[in-house]
Amino acid sequence: MIALTLLLIISVLFIASKNKNEKSPGTSSSSTSQQTNKNTVAFDKSKYSIDDPDSIWIIVNKKRPISTTFIPSNLVTPDVKRDSSDSDAEQQVRKEVGSSIESMFADAKKEGLDLMLASGYRSAALQKTYYDGYVARDGQAAADRYSARPGTSEHQTGLAFDVARGDRKCYLEICFADTPEGKWLAANAYKYGLVLRYQNGKEDITGYQYEPWHFRYVGTALAEQINKSGQTLEEFFGL
Ligand code: DAL
Ligand code: ZN
Repeated sequence: MIALTLLLIISVLFIASKNKNEKSPGTSSSSTSQQTNKNTVAFDKSKYSIDDPDSIWIIVNKKRPISTTFIPSNLVTPDVKRDSSDSDAEQQVRKEVGSSIESMFADAKKEGLDLMLASGYRSAALQKTYYDGYVARDGQAAADRYSARPGTSEHQTGLAFDVARGDRKCYLEICFADTPEGKWLAANAYKYGLVLRYQNGKEDITGYQYEPWHFRYVGTALAEQINKSGQTLEEFFGL
């Protein structure tokens, strides 16, 4: 009987001390409060300009053109497999993008994947040649769903590029998404500061059909946020 009473007292004391240590949400101890603050520190969406074509966060789309005279100042030719049918100029990207491409392609190679840079920087004049050709072939309405008019292509910023397989299977085609290369890129590109710019099912927001080959450099901090959110750049910045 005494043992039972003692057990009862110990149990009551234990439950009381446990309740004391539990806090309702919002009345956390200093250590959990720091944790909460650490986890909820707001991402600074104004850290870089979304209007300046030199900014790594520039947002270019049909409604947000850049000057057709804009030329990025720090273009480089990344040391990776490139499409030799492109001009030397089109095989370039901005310096920070070149480093990202080199590490991503090297890591993909370790996984047995063979990537090729298919198109990088495009001047407004080159974009016009492409766009006009597509209009002549498919008509303007169809071309506008997959090709940007001069002054509205991300390729002109030097921050965007297209990726293909070395063997050109599914070259700039939707089926690229189903290849091991396309799948790996979709899952891993954000680690290199890249976003898949024209997502499936977001044509009404981005203005373009799904392009599983077109990646846009924004830096790792923003790419991680975008990857987590599943949003497009337009949605993330509330445009
Ligand atoms: N294909 C993309 C939309 C471009 O032409 O820039
Ligand atoms: Zn592209």
